[in-house]
Amino acid sequence: MGRNIAFIDSGIGGLSIFNATRKILPNEDYIYYADNANMPYGQLNREQLQKIALKIIDTLLDNYDIKMFVIACNTLTANAIDYLREVYPRMPFIGCEPNVKQALKENSGNTLVLMTPSSFACNRISDRLHCKRTIFMPIRELAILIEEEADDKIIINSLKKELSSIKESFSSVVLGCTHYSLKIDLLKDFFCLPVYDGVAGTARHIKELNAVNQSLVNSGYTSSSIILSRPDPAKYIRYANIVFNGKKI
Ligand code: DGL
Repeated sequence: MGRNIAFIDSGIGGLSIFNATRKILPNEDYIYYADNANMPYGQLNREQLQKIALKIIDTLLDNYDIKMFVIACNTLTANAIDYLREVYPRMPFIGCEPNVKQALKENSGNTLVLMTPSSFACNRISDRLHCKRTIFMPIRELAILIEEEADDKIIINSLKKELSSIKESFSSVVLGCTHYSLKIDLLKDFFCLPVYDGVAGTARHIKELNAVNQSLVNSGYTSSSIILSRPDPAKYIRYANIVFNGKKI
């Protein structure tokens, strides 16, 4: 059985799930793979995303001992996880999906689901989720601005523009992209509504599946490695500060 739990995202977004998982599974070995060379995933099509995912998985499997992949990216989950499970039937894959269920359960009225254009274009989400009272909304810029550490004012102005076409009312918001979770407090202030993401749920799911697979490590040392698909020292330091120095994302 492999040793590492490997996380994949286009950039910084999946780090919230990565850190939440490290907290509840403190003795595991981890790899965080950020595909900054191909960011933004939200503007690629399904075929491109499947090709990219396959290449990353093959590279990681060739170089590391891996027991589970976490697709810490809603866009890659929507477009590629079914395909990856077919290609690697014995490897456990965990993905992220918008937490629509909880938003609908806890609130009456519509819920607004923010997502990248390629998650929006992919029917997997609307097919799988309960779609009543759900407004799916593609957002072009938000993930890129968050990756680039844009100022909060710039983020909010861009979001206002992108949301100006919505006619329906809504009483809650669901974050359907892991990058957005990094700005959940800002988004709560902006919408003044309950805002949901899937960070804690995905981390719990990782723990449960490892327990079911009897692959939990309960004692000993832990290690975490960060890999960027395109070397970028400044970005590496930013990520490392979040992972190793507990810096706020
Ligand atoms: N973090 C990714 C997601 O959850 C996508 C960001 C991007 O567009 O690369 O959808």
